[in-house]
Amino acid sequence: MIAIREVLSAEQLAAVRQQIAKEQWIDGSVTAGTQANKVKNNQQLPSDSPLVRELEDFILTVLAQNPLFVSAALPLKVFPPMINRYGIGETYGVHVDNAIRVPPESSARIRTDLSATLFLTDPDDYDGGELRLEDHFGSQPVKLAAGDLILYPSTSLHQVTAVTKGERVSAVLWLQSMIRDHEQRKILFDLDQSVQSLTTIHGDDHPDVMRLSRNYHNLIRLWAET
Ligand code: NI
Repeated sequence: MIAIREVLSAEQLAAVRQQIAKEQWIDGSVTAGTQANKVKNNQQLPSDSPLVRELEDFILTVLAQNPLFVSAALPLKVFPPMINRYGIGETYGVHVDNAIRVPPESSARIRTDLSATLFLTDPDDYDGGELRLEDHFGSQPVKLAAGDLILYPSTSLHQVTAVTKGERVSAVLWLQSMIRDHEQRKILFDLDQSVQSLTTIHGDDHPDVMRLSRNYHNLIRLWAET
């Protein structure tokens, strides 16, 4: 689980919100699986609207250019983001995300290794509406600043608690990683972070930085699906 801060700049966030304000919300249950559907009570933007498509593409482009996101997720295929809204009393009870998703108007299946929530509402503007991830340590509440993103394993049970004041808007997406195994992906992430910071100190032509970088790429060769 990793939080990625300021995925959207203040200007990008304002542009995204402006776009969202022009759209009509629909019942969120249209895209949930059978078990999830029983506990899903929210609204979302229709993915067949051209303006929503543009918005989804914009978010995907921004993410593809975010070094921390790419390093942590090592994405192979990304399911286009869904924009959703929770008003007062709305909630998404405990569920697990579908293992396989098929993007609209596509036959390419995506195995969901990682789930992500991009927060679009400031935490001060709503109460409740926490993303809660159930793990071995209990339930971890996540409520990030607008423009921040949380990336977490799709294998986890999770929920969004009821909003009790204001409304909560976010974009959610799923991705299939080139590295299916969470432990392997974590090793690669740590290694990449070390390569980045040592490069800053010693330059990318330092022999040890090159050797570490070679190991990073060779582990990807061993483990990656492409
Ligand atoms: Ni979910």
